[in-house]
Amino acid sequence: MIHPAQWRSVITGVGGYLPQCILTNYDLAKIVDTSHEWIVERTGIHQRHFAEENELTSHLCAKAAQCALKNAGKDINEIDLIIVATASPDLTFPSTAALTQKLLKNSTALAFDVAGVCAGFLLALQVADNFLRLRQAKAALVIGGETFSRLLDMEDRRTNVLFGDGAGAIVLEGMDPEKAGDRGVLGVHLQTEGQFSDILYTDGGPSLTGKAGKIRMSGQEVYKHAVVKLTESAVKMLAEHNITIDDIDWFIPHQANVRIIESVAQRLKLPLEKVIVTVDKHANTSAASIPLALWAATQDGRVKPGDLILHEGIGGGLIWGSALVRY
Ligand code: ACO
Repeated sequence: MIHPAQWRSVITGVGGYLPQCILTNYDLAKIVDTSHEWIVERTGIHQRHFAEENELTSHLCAKAAQCALKNAGKDINEIDLIIVATASPDLTFPSTAALTQKLLKNSTALAFDVAGVCAGFLLALQVADNFLRLRQAKAALVIGGETFSRLLDMEDRRTNVLFGDGAGAIVLEGMDPEKAGDRGVLGVHLQTEGQFSDILYTDGGPSLTGKAGKIRMSGQEVYKHAVVKLTESAVKMLAEHNITIDDIDWFIPHQANVRIIESVAQRLKLPLEKVIVTVDKHANTSAASIPLALWAATQDGRVKPGDLILHEGIGGGLIWGSALVRY
């Protein structure tokens, strides 16, 4: 089949939402055998937001989406695609995207979830970009939302200090390339290696235990894979687009750990002034971390229209990859 002329997908609005409740490392040290100093030295994390008991992933997603719609000047009824990236869905089914759509009072869009854990936002971006470029949708809400606080084993200090809750969203619109100019999603690539599924996982699930399970991780293994794979992915992305690291205005990676982020930046010879870091305030919010970091950097005026952004992420699977976006 011959596809109609391809369009370009362009980010026209960014939004985010963080639950009110903030837990500092000092708060955590009262309930877990840890210290502020240990957490900061190993991860760069100072605090995280935790959802209230009745605050679900779909609630966070809907609030982030409303914020993105407002910033895009777009009405919810103009949206015909809603993709939620999450590993902490409200229910096994229906999708968190369907529940978010209901909260947003939209009844015409196609809504579904994708499961790429901490690389989930990039996966949702890739899927939405394909819909929009092929003109199978006109305007998408691409959302990463998580309540990882519910997947934490409060007895396991190797994991429970690392994560937080939140949601970030973008409005992504299909445009005639002439109108888009040089703006838009220029490339996304992702890869999975399931043989590493046992180094980062939850020890439950509907089929295995009937419960969601808790996060289990071989921290040092994940660390090594993250640094190597994210560096390789970035090098490949730059080569594919015939650009160098100096062409990148901003590096906005998944926010797992400041040591991983700085290590990748160092290997890429990317100055730290070009790196957006929010892990200190948000901790690791999995699929929400990239759009939340983008939201923070657009809100404070660092990222401006026309800037070239390199995104990267890695998550349980392992699944990892990068995206090149002219904002
Ligand atoms: N507080 C205090 N001490 C702790 C804590 C804690 N929260 N956690 C572990 N320790 C102790 C351990 O018990 C161990 O003590 P021991 O030597 O007496 O046995 C010591 O600290 C060192 O433990 P390690 O696990 O070797 O610590 P490491 O230096 O590897 O740091 C960390 C752990 C931060 C998890 C690191 O491995 C890492 O950053 N891994 C990357 C994983 C990651 O970021 N995952 C997020 C999800 S995946 C993603 O988003 C990419």
